[in-house]
Amino acid sequence: HSRASQQKDQGLWQLQTAVALDIDGVLVRGKRALDEGRRALQMLSSENRLRMRIPFVLLTNGGGVSEADKAADISRLVGVDIQAEQIVLAHSPMRALASRYAQKHVLVVGGKQSRCAHIARAYGLSNVSTPNDVVAWNPAAWPFMHPPSADLLSEPGGATRNFARDPFHAVMVFHDSFDFGRDLQIATDVLRSKDATLGSGFVNQQTVPLYMSNADLIFSNEYPLPRFGQGAYHVCLRAMWDALTAGAPLEYTLFGKPNKVQYQYAEHLLDRIALSAAPDADLDQVHAGRRIFAIGDNPAADIAGANGAGWTSVLVRTGIFKGANDATHPAHFVADHVEDAVSWIIESEH
Ligand code: G3P
Ligand code: MG
Repeated sequence: HSRASQQKDQGLWQLQTAVALDIDGVLVRGKRALDEGRRALQMLSSENRLRMRIPFVLLTNGGGVSEADKAADISRLVGVDIQAEQIVLAHSPMRALASRYAQKHVLVVGGKQSRCAHIARAYGLSNVSTPNDVVAWNPAAWPFMHPPSADLLSEPGGATRNFARDPFHAVMVFHDSFDFGRDLQIATDVLRSKDATLGSGFVNQQTVPLYMSNADLIFSNEYPLPRFGQGAYHVCLRAMWDALTAGAPLEYTLFGKPNKVQYQYAEHLLDRIALSAAPDADLDQVHAGRRIFAIGDNPAADIAGANGAGWTSVLVRTGIFKGANDATHPAHFVADHVEDAVSWIIESEH
């Protein structure tokens, strides 16, 4: 273990092991942390029989906040210090879209108030609007709500643009819709807008690309049964598209678990953690013999994605899944909760 164990001021690191933990249904349920989650993170932070730190990231299909805010939120809830560099949100890899859409006008859908517009801008997408901005421009675009107040709009001061003269280049669903009706209407309007401009007519084909961040149909919070996730909005959007266009093709790019892009992004963060723990190592050394474990509660997202990425998957029973193992996406190991999952990882590696 000479290369695997590297000294740094905060203690010894075990770099042959890396862990990606899911958040909802694993570390927390709604606004409440699970005690097993706190103990699991303490174990990874060296309170284990090896007395070694194990690199870990939190890999969630949640979002609607910045990585820094999520890190602060989870640190407070769970009582273990988490850095922004350890957080992969559903929309985190969407920052790569900035190379194509840096200045291009984009509709950002989902989340509380205009938060996702601000997140998109922080990712380098400088020219974004939200469905609320459209309704403020023309309240008849979605007449079933009070026109939004200026503080709910994406531009400081609530300035609105003339959407009839400002074409869109893409629709990006960053987070769960907080108003399905409004967001189905405005996203569909943009997707089949003539000249990609609002109010000038509809065409029977997709006029701009669609990107979506999290296909989870359901997720687990403090309610006794699973709740609709962002994937439920995707189902509605596709159904409305089919009904309105009589089946014209709708193409879209998905981010979030179980898609490969999420796992590449997580591996990149794990690499950076390992390299800062062992500054003399190179990436080949970090990768050699490293086993990455994923702990999750959703077989279709967490287990399918981890298996597809060549990681070792651990399914827990504190969220969506209850049972022996999943038939469609079997995990390498099933544990009652995340503390048992981390114990198993540490035992199986050493
Ligand atoms: O809305 C979040 C949910 O879809 C999944 O969160 O942490 O279980 O991936 P998580
Ligand atoms: Mg989960």
